[in-house]
Amino acid sequence: MSNILVVVYSHTGTSQRVAELLCSQQGWRMAEIRDARPRRGVLGNLRCLVESLFKLRPAIRYDGPLPRDFDAVVLVSPVWALQLAGPMRSFVATRRDHLPDVAVVSVMGGQGGPNAAAEIAQLVGHAPLLSTAFTLREVEDGSYAARLEALGTAVKAAKDSQAVVRPVTLSPQAI
Ligand SMILES: Cc1cc2nc3c(=O)[nH]c(=O)nc-3n(C[C@H](O)[C@H](O)[C@H](O)COP(=O)(O)O)c2cc1C
Repeated sequence: MSNILVVVYSHTGTSQRVAELLCSQQGWRMAEIRDARPRRGVLGNLRCLVESLFKLRPAIRYDGPLPRDFDAVVLVSPVWALQLAGPMRSFVATRRDHLPDVAVVSVMGGQGGPNAAAEIAQLVGHAPLLSTAFTLREVEDGSYAARLEALGTAVKAAKDSQAVVRPVTLSPQAI
């Protein structure tokens, strides 16, 4: 059975809720990206915007397990200024050579999810296994839960089917 890690960055707690629900639905482990420099108040929000506009990579702290020890990683983070949140950009950029397959979950007010997934695809050099986005409203009213579960099940199915197919297709002794 596939071993999948959920890595989350959350500024105001919504992405954190999404990641926690996904982990409880699928029995997966969660790890958090944190800001090296806390973001507070208006200046904190301004930093979010500037990082997005200039695609900056802010300093982060990550004490979770090594992503390369997992079959896939689900990345959960907010959208800022129609772009991937800076701390997730930093995480993906510094680990791009050691990341297994990724799936992307964006959390947003209403716009920008596809840009975030596209940036992750560009950083890692290939398309995510799956990507989706939820609005803040969907998270708050709970209506996203079934779609989140479907995404988790699809990620698991994709990895489980690779695990079964690989030895048969690659090993000459299996023919
Ligand atoms: C600085 C900043 C910029 C944002 N820009 C966007 C945006 O461009 N599009 C959007 O849909 N939501 C935007 N949002 C809303 C967040 O994506 C949304 O509130 C999300 O749920 C926050 O996730 P979090 O609670 O995990 O930090 C922005 C929020 C902040 C703080």
